[in-house]
This record gives sequence, structure tokens and C-alpha cells, in this order.
Amino acid sequence: MSNGYLREDWDDYAMAFQGIMPSMMLQLNQAVADRMGGDVIDFGCGAAKIAPFILEKTSVRSYTGLDYAPEMVTRARWMLAQFPGKPCVILEGKIEEARLGCHDSALSINSYYAWENPLRALSCIFRALRENGTFVLATPNPLIDMPALLKASERELIAHPYWQRFREQNLAFCGNGTARFIEMDELIAQVRSVGFRVAEAHQKLYMGGLNFLHLEK
Ligand SMILES: C[S@@+](CC[C@H](N)C(=O)[O-])C[C@H]1O[C@@H](n2cnc3c(N)ncnc32)[C@H](O)[C@@H]1O
Repeated sequence: MSNGYLREDWDDYAMAFQGIMPSMMLQLNQAVADRMGGDVIDFGCGAAKIAPFILEKTSVRSYTGLDYAPEMVTRARWMLAQFPGKPCVILEGKIEEARLGCHDSALSINSYYAWENPLRALSCIFRALRENGTFVLATPNPLIDMPALLKASERELIAHPYWQRFREQNLAFCGNGTARFIEMDELIAQVRSVGFRVAEAHQKLYMGGLNFLHLEK
């Protein structure tokens, strides 16, 4: 693998990551879910922590998650089993190599920065959407201040049994020299180059450290 993110690192991260949802992450999941409808697909779904937020929307028909880390996939499948009712599936594989049917909405949260080939992944996401479909992409920009975000979250999570592990792993993931923490302008240029229109772009979440893009096909 050419960048510094290994499948095994994500697997190692899965337990603490699944067990903890700081309120700023909850706010992000809610904001993304509010923009989803129809058949939804989640690229780099991790443990599918957003699935409960999405599945409660009456406008959502189905949820598909895609991730290449086996332990994340196992945990995502467990998550979906807790919320039966709508058709759901978790696929194991790389975004860049996926062959998918057509969906109404797509999302990708905090995964872009680890992609080896972002343009290839973005093209794949574009192809997985119907005309006028929606894509919400959320990924850190160079202003991301992980120590400050963790300090803010510590107040609510300090006694959680996974907190120390979650904290250390987040610092390590953020400190990985190959992370693509991308400026909003550059990210917008990339999504436009594969065909997306920008409906909304802001940096209101994660203390300004997150690019939030609401796109249309
Ligand atoms: C920080 S986690 C975020 C998970 C989830 N989106 C969330 O916000 O709860 C990033 C996930 O992206 C996945 N990932 C990274 N690159 C990927 C790729 N090229 N194809 C599929 N999954 C990928 C990792 O396995 C990991 O589970």
C-alpha cells in the first residue's frame, strides 16, 4: 500500500472507535443523515455508526455500507442487526474497485484523507449515483486540531473504558504524515472534475477543521 494507512490499523482501531461517539461526531452524523434519502450508500462506512441516524429517516429506503477493513465490516454488520426493518447490507472491499448499482444518496465521512487515489474513488462514487443524486463528503482540512478536539471531548468521555485508546489512536491517525488533509478549494476542484455540482460547502463542524460538502450529480 503506498500511503501510511494499513487495513490492519483500521481493524485495530475498530473496537474503541465503535464504542465511542463524542457529541461533535454525533452532530456530524446527524447533519449528514438529514441530507440522505432513498437508497443510501456509505463509502468507508467503518462500523456503520451513522446507520441508526440514517435508518430512522422515513425518506430512506435502504442502506449499503462499503469498507475494506474486515473488523470494521464485522462490527458494521453487528450494528445493522440491531436495527432490522429496512434492507441493509455491508460490502467488504475498496471504494476504488467497487462495482455498484445505482443509489439516490451517498456519503463518506472521515475516510477521504486515507484514500490512495482520491480521484479514482470520487469517480466510482459518482458512477454509483443516479442523475440528481446527492453526495455528502466530510473530511478534515489542514486546520484540523486533533489535540483540541480530544480535549473538548474528554469532558464527556474521560471515564469511558475505551477513552484512552480512542484518544491515542486518533492522535496517531491524525499524525500520520501521509494524511490528505485538503483545503476546501482543492477538494471542490476535485469533486467538480469528476462531475459533481456543489450545493453547499462549509467548515462549521470540528472547530473549523472539517470540510463539509453537499454535492449533486
Ligand atoms: C475513520 S474511519 C470512518 C468510518 C465512518 N465513516 C465513520 O465516520 O464512522 C475510516 C474508514 O475508511 C475506511 N477506508 C479507508 N480507505 C478506504 C478505501 N480505499 N476503501 C474502503 N474503505 C476505506 C477504513 O477502513 C475505515 O473504516
